[in-house]
Amino acid sequence: MAKLPIVLAPDPVLKMKCEPVVSIDDDVRRLLDDMLETMYDAPGIGLSAPQVAAGQRVIVCDVAREGEAPRPYRMINPEITWRSDENVVAEEGCLSIPDYYAEVSRSREIRVGYFDPDGAAQKLDATGLLSACIQHEIDHLNGVLFIDYLTPLKRNIILRKMKKLKRQQA
Ligand code: NI
Repeated sequence: MAKLPIVLAPDPVLKMKCEPVVSIDDDVRRLLDDMLETMYDAPGIGLSAPQVAAGQRVIVCDVAREGEAPRPYRMINPEITWRSDENVVAEEGCLSIPDYYAEVSRSREIRVGYFDPDGAAQKLDATGLLSACIQHEIDHLNGVLFIDYLTPLKRNIILRKMKKLKRQQA
């Protein structure tokens, strides 16, 4: 496994729509393993392909708390097939927008279909933090960031500060 550099916003890579994976091979499995290692190292609870400059529809997440056994998910071509009518508001952050947090309203429960690294079709019912995390990561595959749910004013303040941060790091 290898740690990958995380793309910081604003970056056109984070606005692209990712392509479905057509064959689940060693390259895809390695990408998923590398993404998990990158996520744990950050540390974060979720990571999507565009955040490591890859254009495929794959995400990883693990919302286990400190002290709990890890519960990593490697999802290929994840698709939300059902969502609850009820929404819930929770604070979110993103490894591509470090140090910024904001409240986002999302479906309380979802059902997600995906393929695992062995190519088997899986279904998962998610609620709570896992539900929000999966929705956040699937948004990334469609070029959507959590700050896109904020008012343009708030979003622009954050993006301006991110540009400044990136200039300082360059
Ligand atoms: Ni994110």
